[in-house]
Amino acid sequence: MSSPLKLGVAGLGTVGASLARLIVEKGGLFAERVGRPITVSAVTARDRSKDRGIDISGLQWFDDPVALAAKGDIDVYVELVGGSEGAALESVKAALNRGLPVVTANKALLAHHGVSLAKLAARKNTTIAFEAAVAGGIPVIKALREALRGNTVSRIYGILNGTCNYMLTRMERESLSFEACLAEAQRLGYAEADPTFDIGGFDAAHKLTILTSLAFGSEIDLESVFIEGIEQIASEDIEAAAELGFRIKLLAVAQRTETGIEQRVHPAMIPSSSALAQVDGVTNAVAVDTDLLGSILLAGPGAGGNATASAVLSDILDIASGTRIATFGVPPTNLQPYRKARMRSHEGGYYIRLTVHDRVGVFASIARRMAESAISLESIVQRKRAGHESDEVAPVILITHETTEAAVRKAIDAISRDGHLSGEPRMIRIEPLD
Ligand code: NAP
Ligand code: HSE
Repeated sequence: MSSPLKLGVAGLGTVGASLARLIVEKGGLFAERVGRPITVSAVTARDRSKDRGIDISGLQWFDDPVALAAKGDIDVYVELVGGSEGAALESVKAALNRGLPVVTANKALLAHHGVSLAKLAARKNTTIAFEAAVAGGIPVIKALREALRGNTVSRIYGILNGTCNYMLTRMERESLSFEACLAEAQRLGYAEADPTFDIGGFDAAHKLTILTSLAFGSEIDLESVFIEGIEQIASEDIEAAAELGFRIKLLAVAQRTETGIEQRVHPAMIPSSSALAQVDGVTNAVAVDTDLLGSILLAGPGAGGNATASAVLSDILDIASGTRIATFGVPPTNLQPYRKARMRSHEGGYYIRLTVHDRVGVFASIARRMAESAISLESIVQRKRAGHESDEVAPVILITHETTEAAVRKAIDAISRDGHLSGEPRMIRIEPLD
């Protein structure tokens, strides 16, 4: 058997510790599959003494990822530290400059620096592999970069953040609070080190930019993504959605339009009968619309130690087998400049929740303001909330027929000026998916 492939693993948290454990537990199988042993030979983390459930006593220890990448006796640098700048960025550059292949799960790094790192990798005749960076264990990078190469993609969309989907599912199923669900997602190792990236929609946006580049052959452009998180989603929205035949999901969408590529991440109400509505918990799903295949849907665990390590392992085993593919599927100099589309007037309606003073005439006034903005209402319902702070305040739920975001905002502004609102209005786009 050939000499071992020596890994330098930076970061021994949720993903890194799982990876190191799996390489010990399943090393024999991996060696059989690729014809050479895979070993972790050097590691780094912040705290050397932390118990991680793995034995690192026989491994080279580095206090600094950059030193590991630059000087470690390794064949592959595996970056599992996280963050778009600092140690992650500098260490990946150091490894590539040495000509080492890099494996990373770091979507923030790729969303910010993916194209320049891909160019550096190409100059150094090496590669960056990142199956774990999008949708956890789902092999969506391989699917786009390899299996779907002969297709032209018109749209790619789905649920790309396990933390948010886990939280929304538990809030819906068990009526748990937003905070309790987030704490649980953190405990389970799903959330980012800074969970604002999850709940604010930024993590899904990072992933979407990577998918966009692979699907449309364009350079990555994070600035162009419209981003809205789930922070404003309240249990009453989730309940109302269920009563109306919808579920709320954090949706990520990239599509070709006549004016360019549109990228957006935002909570959406989707029909309960749609395929994406069945995607629960930490599961992610990616739908791809193509010319040759029609639509396909890939679904699976989107976060967590083993799921993510599974994807990291697939990249490592590819490198061990000598497989090498251009980072974003084409030589980086062939990536097209990103052409931003105007965000299309939303096809579908809007869910609007207004907290209003419960006075005579408010209902009629709201309906009039909607009509003035040429918004046709599918329904308008006044709900009484149990335990509401004041009997004089009531939520009103409106569902609109197809309209534009500008019209909705204009109507809400007018209602607000009328002095009827006692709380912030909430608006969720309704996405008519199958
Ligand atoms: P994590 O649990 O927070 O682990 C991060 C690791 O990096 C820790 O071991 C930490 O050391 C180490 N570290 C942080 N800063 C360092 C520095 N300056 N120098 C040396 N070591 C440093 O993170 P994770 O969840 O494993 O995620 C790792 C990467 O995978 C991130 O890019 C994340 O976005 C991505 N990812 C995660 C998941 C998931 O489900 N968790 C899924 C897909 C992708 P200490 O342990 O000593 O603090
Ligand atoms: N924090 C991320 C998520 C990890 O919850 O989806 C997987 O990328």
